[in-house]
Amino acid sequence: MLIPLVLSGGSGTRLWPVSRKNLPKQFLALAGEQTLFQDTLARAAKLPGAVAPIIVASEDHRFLAAEQVQELGIKDSAIILEPLARNTAPAIALGALHALQNHPDAVLLVLPADHLIADTLAFRHAVEQALPLTEQGLLVTFGIRPDRPETGFGYIRRGENVSTNGFKVAQFVEKPDLDTASRYLADGGYDWNSGMFLFKANRYIEELRTHNPIMLEAVEIAFAEAKTDLDFIRLDATSFAKVPDDSIDYAVMEKTHHAAVVPVSCGWSDIGSWSALWLTGEKDDNGNRFDGDVLAIDTRNTLVRSHERHLVATLGVEDLVVVTTPDATLVAHRDAAQDVKKIVDQLKSSG
Ligand code: GDD
Ligand code: MG
Repeated sequence: MLIPLVLSGGSGTRLWPVSRKNLPKQFLALAGEQTLFQDTLARAAKLPGAVAPIIVASEDHRFLAAEQVQELGIKDSAIILEPLARNTAPAIALGALHALQNHPDAVLLVLPADHLIADTLAFRHAVEQALPLTEQGLLVTFGIRPDRPETGFGYIRRGENVSTNGFKVAQFVEKPDLDTASRYLADGGYDWNSGMFLFKANRYIEELRTHNPIMLEAVEIAFAEAKTDLDFIRLDATSFAKVPDDSIDYAVMEKTHHAAVVPVSCGWSDIGSWSALWLTGEKDDNGNRFDGDVLAIDTRNTLVRSHERHLVATLGVEDLVVVTTPDATLVAHRDAAQDVKKIVDQLKSSG
């Protein structure tokens, strides 16, 4: 049984001022008609054999999530609500425990709710290639060919073949520094971790028990104390607060000896920042990407996104990001786009 497990608890701070605490990027239509969250659900629903998804989201976004699921006409999904964020390792553990309640053999397809995938057929094919590997007890990640020394991703060194298009993970390094990432890029034997995973729910729980038993125990207690309320499964804030904060990448993938990678070329991108959006989107002949009302003269390699009826005019500039909303405007160098989080942090601390 293939169960999509959609993670949508991130806050998307690097996409400020459009992505906000109450409306983070995954619930926005940043690249198309549907929101990234809806794209993710729709993509998963089309996979052969996939049943209703499990969604792990922040309690703050429960109505957004429920409404957007409903709009797609998806029935019987389970929405688990976190009262606070503890990163992806606990979120996936919650999904796994939920799946195991009724399906001891469940295979989970973990999908971040904020990725773009251009070629759904290639993605589907990769999932089909990965499925038999889960039968061997492997935790499969989908590998992306790197084209820049990105430091915001995990890197995977391919080991021996385990199937026609599957490799043992020889080494998994989460978010290396720039020197290391450049070395990996030059080496050619590394893939990016896409952050999408496929494994048996019980294998993930076993690996967590081996590498982080304290986390697992805390999640098990919190899950046992969860209450079903209308369409939601709600965790108790006090018990979930006791769960250590860590990502699957550090807590499990860097440590396990049972990981495999299936390389996939599916036009994948993690819309993590404005520069990522610029990089992946279509651009005009001057390398610009404009959304909304924009008048540009002598402007190059720039992303402008202006909200309704707000004209942005640029003149004699290049490599900029300009994003306007009714109450805030961002002007940043494209190279600084990874640091937009600093603005949000500063705003938070100044109340
Ligand atoms: N439910 C829930 N709870 N979801 C969460 C939480 C949480 O506490 N924290 C993050 N998420 C969701 C995010 O919304 C996103 O969809 C996904 O989990 C991954 O989290 P990110 O915070 O976006 O991770 P990342 O981009 O820094 O790194 C991961 O993805 C990269 C590829 O995009 C890692 O897996 C890297 O190794 C990988 O290269
Ligand atoms: Mg991400």
